[in-house]
Amino acid sequence: MDISHGISQHVRIVDVGPRDGLQNEKNIVAAADKIRLINDLTAAGLSAIEVGSFVSPTWVPQMADTATVLRGITRNNAARYPALVPNLRGLEAAIAAGATEIAIFSAASEAFCKKNINCSIAESLERFSQVAQIARAQNIAVRGYVSCVLGCPYEGDVAIDSVVSIALALKNMGCYEVSLGDTIGVGTAGKARAMTAAVADAIGINAVAVHFHDTYGQALANVLACLELGVSVVDASVAGLGGCPYAPRATGNVATEDLVYMLHGMGIETGIDLDKLITAGNRICTQLGRASSSKVATAKGGTV
Ligand code: HMG
Ligand code: MG
Repeated sequence: MDISHGISQHVRIVDVGPRDGLQNEKNIVAAADKIRLINDLTAAGLSAIEVGSFVSPTWVPQMADTATVLRGITRNNAARYPALVPNLRGLEAAIAAGATEIAIFSAASEAFCKKNINCSIAESLERFSQVAQIARAQNIAVRGYVSCVLGCPYEGDVAIDSVVSIALALKNMGCYEVSLGDTIGVGTAGKARAMTAAVADAIGINAVAVHFHDTYGQALANVLACLELGVSVVDASVAGLGGCPYAPRATGNVATEDLVYMLHGMGIETGIDLDKLITAGNRICTQLGRASSSKVATAKGGTV
């Protein structure tokens, strides 16, 4: 069967590297270096960049300076700069720092929800519903995440029905888009497609984004399986930075460079300049003293 007609000719990439990537680095990166990374990504043509999170600095010290980062970046007015917010306190801090978009995050697994944000799924939805309501009243866009959509580090298998009901709850509370997170990267293409199709049935394909960590090397295959469903928003992390502090051994998202290479090779537009993106990724890797996890950046040379 020819399914290529269902593939969108333009994909919006959300680079989550400055948040999902740097939240998991052992070394604290200076605010000035985070600002430069985000500015580099903007200059490379990214139209959505997750800048950080307004979470407890005791829980995630790497993100303690998100207000400074958000205030310091040079924005492209056409681009989105969301920051993660776990509660009302985080929302207040985000607003004070000039956020125009936030991301709220729940999970399809009780155990992960508890480890990640110290409450049950039901409590998280109640909390986020208030956060979203206040944010929307102030014209702040709200993006949603569901974690553990294809497996949980504590509970194992996760039911598609749980993913669908949480995605729907987030959509109903005002999220313009819900990103489906394979937090530990265990998913494979068939399961990723089935789960994403079920969510798309409930909230509409245009409200779906996918967020695949590449721990098991399946992320690009999973993205492709979901593109074939008509998904047109994909999260990725420059240089493949990242993981989640509450998902032991999980590695970063699919590297943005590798995703862009695949999409451009398929004739799909992203608006991103691959060379500039590679330079941005190599620069942050040099600062971190680590090699890039991007195959494309490595193939083209030039990292530490
Ligand atoms: P808690 O301990 O239940 O909260 O944490 P609390 O209300 O009892 O407060 C505890 C302390 O934190 C207090 O300070 C609060 O003031 C402070 P103390 O009195 O002890 O000095 N606090 C805050 N400080 C700054 N900003 C705030 C804030 N809220 C409370 N917003 C809480 C609950 C949600 C705060 C905590 O669990 C937390 O911060 N968790 C964040 C976890 C996190 O960032 N995880 C990584 C991001 S999620 C992810 O990576 C997955 C994703 O990529 C998708 C995927 O891959 O699946 C999105
Ligand atoms: Mg993630």
